[in-house]
Amino acid sequence: MIRIARSVVLPRSGRRFAAFQHSSSSSYSSSSSTDRPSSHATVGNKDSVAETAPHFASITVLGGGQMGAGIAQTAATFNYTVNLVDMSDDALSRGQGYIIKSLKRVAKMRFKGDEPQQSRFVDDVLSRIKLSTDTESAAAGADLIIEAIIEQIETKRAVFGVLDKVAPAEAILASNTSSLPIGAIGEAVGDKRKGQLAGLHFFNPVPQMKLVEIVRTERTTDETIDRLRAFAKSIDKAPVLCRDTPGFIVNRLLVPYLAEAIRMLERGDATAEDIDTAMKCGAGYPMGPFQLLDYVGLDTVKFILDGWYKEGEGLAGSDLVRPSEKLDELVRNGRLGVKSGAGFYDY
Ligand SMILES: NC(=O)c1ccc[n+]([C@@H]2O[C@H](COP(=O)([O-])OP(=O)(O)OC[C@H]3O[C@@H](n4cnc5c(N)ncnc54)[C@H](O)[C@@H]3O)[C@@H](O)[C@H]2O)c1
Repeated sequence: MIRIARSVVLPRSGRRFAAFQHSSSSSYSSSSSTDRPSSHATVGNKDSVAETAPHFASITVLGGGQMGAGIAQTAATFNYTVNLVDMSDDALSRGQGYIIKSLKRVAKMRFKGDEPQQSRFVDDVLSRIKLSTDTESAAAGADLIIEAIIEQIETKRAVFGVLDKVAPAEAILASNTSSLPIGAIGEAVGDKRKGQLAGLHFFNPVPQMKLVEIVRTERTTDETIDRLRAFAKSIDKAPVLCRDTPGFIVNRLLVPYLAEAIRMLERGDATAEDIDTAMKCGAGYPMGPFQLLDYVGLDTVKFILDGWYKEGEGLAGSDLVRPSEKLDELVRNGRLGVKSGAGFYDY
């Protein structure tokens, strides 16, 4: 019998594991940083060690949702000129709303009590973000295009096919996908572009989360990797490099760990509360696995486990990602975690 606690207060700030999303989608992460604006022309502080700048004259971000807005905000904060593209004006104004809210929070911390300076900061960053519903013209002038649209392979493939045709020959095309193979998304791009195709996987919330996974396909060139690494450093991120494999680094390790925690609960080895306490106090994790599962969303975790068990490279049929009865049951009953008010815990 599984006991569900009445309520659990999750850490709201500081170190934490963040999450995925599926659509549709997914992603995870750990640790946090601060939004520290600086010019990419003057990078070189202790965390930001880019040596050549500017790395890209113009960046286009496709998708103005949670992730795209965060990526646009972060790049603009570090002086990049950004075109943020979504399908409708409504979606763009929602994205802009996320950005303004987040920038105001940053401004308040950076310029405590100095309201004119706070407004100047917000206006300055916003002035570098142009909103558009026209993918083709936004892509035509960009030398880095970061795709952050919904997590659907056919949609992404179609978009990359268009981008390949309209983007300048030297432009790099990157996807922020959490769970789809970069090579498969890039099937629609021509042979010449394949070397300039990579994953650039940010974590949520982008302005705070330090990690960026750079994902290389078999065709991605060293030059592309170097440019993306320099770009990531120039926006004060910590880039890591990974092959194009399911879950890249963070999710590949995190998902089997979460699945094993559920199996432990299913076997009756310990309660969810005790497993969470054990991992926080014994392993130093900022959240226990069940708190993290609820934070990520149980539907998302199920989506990933099911997909990997079915056809994940090196994972299909593996016990590491075997779907869980308990997880299926919770999702079936609408207990999706924090977002639905209940998951392993009640909120
Ligand atoms: N949410 C996370 O925690 C997270 C973390 C890392 C990576 N990701 C990945 O980032 C991507 C976006 O995730 P999200 O959470 O921002 O999703 P979201 O649903 O918040 O935003 C997606 C946006 O893309 C727009 N869009 C859809 N099709 C488009 C098109 N053809 N052209 C332009 N815009 C289009 C939608 O209107 C929407 O505004 C996904 O691939 C996801 O896997 C998500």
